[in-house]
This record gives sequence, C-alpha cells and structure tokens, in this order.
Amino acid sequence: MKLVFLGPPGAGKGTIAARAREHYQIPHISTGDLFRTHIKEHTPLGSEVEAILGRGDLVPDAITVEMVRERLSADDAQRGFILDGFPRTIAQADALAQMARLDYVVNFVLDEEVIIARLSGRRVCKSTGRIYHILYDPPKVDGIDDESGEVLIQRDDDKPEAIHNRLLVYQRQTFPLIGYYRSMGLLVDIDAKGTPLEVFARLKAELGF
Ligand code: AP5
Repeated sequence: MKLVFLGPPGAGKGTIAARAREHYQIPHISTGDLFRTHIKEHTPLGSEVEAILGRGDLVPDAITVEMVRERLSADDAQRGFILDGFPRTIAQADALAQMARLDYVVNFVLDEEVIIARLSGRRVCKSTGRIYHILYDPPKVDGIDDESGEVLIQRDDDKPEAIHNRLLVYQRQTFPLIGYYRSMGLLVDIDAKGTPLEVFARLKAELGF
C-alpha cells in the first residue's frame, strides 16, 4: 500500500505513522526525519538545510524531490510506504506522480489550538527518534527516553516563533494539496482529535483493514 500522510505540523502524522508502519508492514518515510538525520550526521546536505528547518521554512523542492526519489528507489519501498511530510507543494506532488502510483492520501484534520498545544509539549529522543509529549505521552522518567536512557530534547522548530511560521507556511504552500488530491479521488480525511489509539482506529476503518 502506498500512502501519503498530509496535514498541518503537529497533527500527529509521525505518531500515527509509527503504528501504521507496524500494522501494514511498510516503511515510514518522513522527509523531516531524513533531513534531521543529515543534520545530525553533519553531511553537506545537513549543513545546507539546518537553518531552514530551524526557521520552519520549506527546503527547496529540487533538493527534497531528489532525496525522496533516492529513498523510494530502495528495496524496502517497492511493496509500499508511508510518506510523511512529502509532498508539501504542488511541484513536489507533480514530481511524486512520476515516481509512484498512490493508493490513498490521508489528510489529518485538527484545530490550530490543539496543534499548538501538541507541538509546544513535544519532546524527542535524538537517537531512537521516539516522540513523546510532556502531558499526553510522557516518558517513564521525566525528560529521559524509555529505551536509550538519553536526555530528550525539544526540536528548534517547536519553539513559539518557528511554530507560528510553520503554520503560515503550511497554509500557503501545503494546504492547496488537499484540493489537488481530492480532485483525483485519493483524499481520505481523518479527524485527528482524541488519543493516538482512537485516531489510528479511524484510519484503519477508513482504509478498510
Ligand atoms: P516534519 O518533521 O515533517 O514536521 P511537520 O510536518 O511540521 O510535522 P511534525 O513532525 O511537526 O508533526 P507530526 O504531524 O508528525 O506530529 P507528531 O506525531 O510528532 O518537517 C520538519 C521540517 O523539515 C519542515 O518544517 C521543513 O523545513 C522540512 N521539510 C520536511 N518535509 C519537507 C518537504 N516535503 N518539503 C520541504 N521541506 C520539508 O505529534 C506532535 C506532538 O503531539 C507529539 O508530542 C505527540 O506525542 C503528540 N501527539 C500526537 N498525536 C497525539 C494525539 N492523538 N493525542 C495527544 N497527543 C498527540
């Protein structure tokens, strides 16, 4: 199954993708995670995009499309995938159409107030990638990853000015994709309120298994 997860920052795409990856046995490909790995490993691409991610702006289409093209050509992506955070512009969607035939585009719908609460409380582990929330999904020991024992961090783009910018960028550049995919008959809207368990149950019901 070839899926795209679309929706505003903080809607829970990564959280639900972690469950969907296990359930559907397909890789979870997050462009945000790919960029953050480049930054962590100090690659040339990482240095090029670090400031862009920190501000909450979009990385240029040409760079992003090439990174995704390479990732989708790997063996594990041939049977299916969950693309999380790509495409984010009409140009990226046009490029993706040349690379793969999608089954569904899942659009996570959530109010801005809840989005801001989710993003401001998010904490992540740099090595395991596990996502927490200080109130809704805290680790067993405050500030420490359950698996690795490492200290959790707050993403630079989860600070207030960057959150504000990311929401504006989403409205201007990514929101138009809802109409783009709806007109192709690929869009499935999912109410992203409630617990991850509830949201994931809605997704399975919509996809039929
Ligand atoms: P990316 O990492 O993709 O960020 P994003 O789309 O803004 O999405 P987030 O990771 O912030 O949110 P999410 O929806 O996955 O929510 P999560 O599950 O973590 O991109 C980062 C940057 O990379 C971009 O700004 C851009 O610079 C660049 N980039 C990436 N893709 C690009 C592209 N295609 N083109 C150009 N540039 C690109 O959940 C959030 C919080 O809420 C967590 O704390 C979680 O625990 C909590 N939570 C989740 N679900 C629930 C729930 N149901 N109930 C309660 N709490 C919940």
